[in-house]
Amino acid sequence: MPLVTTTEMFKKAYAGGYAVGAFNVNNMEIVQGITEACQEQHAPVVLQVSKGARAYANHTYLVKMVEAAVQECPDIPIALHLDHGPDFETCKSCIDGGFTSVMIDCSSKPFDENVEITKKVVEYAHAHGVVVEAELGTLAGVEDDVQVSAEDSSYTHPEEVEEFVTRTGCDSLAIAIGTSHGAYKFTPEQCTRNEKGILVPPPLRFDVLEEVSKRLPGFPIVLHGSSSVPQNFVDIINAHGGKMPDAIGIPEEELRKAASMSVCKINIDSDIRLAITATIREYFDEHPDHFDPRQYLKPARQAVKDMVAHKLVNVLGCNGKA
Ligand code: G3H
Ligand code: 13P
Ligand code: ZN
Repeated sequence: MPLVTTTEMFKKAYAGGYAVGAFNVNNMEIVQGITEACQEQHAPVVLQVSKGARAYANHTYLVKMVEAAVQECPDIPIALHLDHGPDFETCKSCIDGGFTSVMIDCSSKPFDENVEITKKVVEYAHAHGVVVEAELGTLAGVEDDVQVSAEDSSYTHPEEVEEFVTRTGCDSLAIAIGTSHGAYKFTPEQCTRNEKGILVPPPLRFDVLEEVSKRLPGFPIVLHGSSSVPQNFVDIINAHGGKMPDAIGIPEEELRKAASMSVCKINIDSDIRLAITATIREYFDEHPDHFDPRQYLKPARQAVKDMVAHKLVNVLGCNGKA
């Protein structure tokens, strides 16, 4: 099947109490690792491209690689999505350039400005058969060149969501309930420790999610910053010359709970980066004489595939839903 929008995927995910995985793609091995897992698990998927990915890999290469994946995985719906579109022009360029979904992220702007720009993107996107994700509330962390400190982050105000969705006409809404971008989502001071001394992050604000869902019944909600930062990857990285102390993510059980509620799309990028980096660091330590990139990119791609398969089955619950 050709590239699809997220409309049907989200409708089914909402009704079925699961979420679709949205994975960031930056090169061929990442595209292959993700889509091979989704094809084997019969799962719908969103492949998303950031402004930084377009700068790194080039729009055309990314679109063509995703088109190749569509051809190789004929049984699953795949959407091609712009992640964190910073302005109308970037969204327009992706809409004109073959994407089926775009995010306009004006969440750091005042409410009325966010509404105005989002509405403009929605009008252009809908006229071209493309759907739009918008955002209310600010996540901490780094995305492209924008860095938001924990102090400047803010949870979504549920009382704003109906007006925002009605005025903009957006198709899905990303909200801030305590997730954040990157591999350092919480400082040790923000966490507690369990009986084994392992850091336990503060719980997500499910009360905010519930209040948003009450005000927007049936409307698909998106969670950004939802990598779990698996400790086995962090340990491998640290054991093989890396230095990632205190890297910590969102517990998988919390994401599973969000997926069973109104959250229809869960964004994962950092876990892909960790899977690749851990695999390659270990490989280099064990094979200091190897220098053919295919030798170490092959297990790195397999690690992405295994990690994604685990998410589909154990976190998102979207296996078998294609
Ligand atoms: O939200 C951020 C994503 O992880 C994309 O990261 O902007 O470095 O490509 P990037
Ligand atoms: P992570 O950094 O938690 O993987 O979040 C990715 C994301 O939200 C992309 O938009
Ligand atoms: Zn994000």
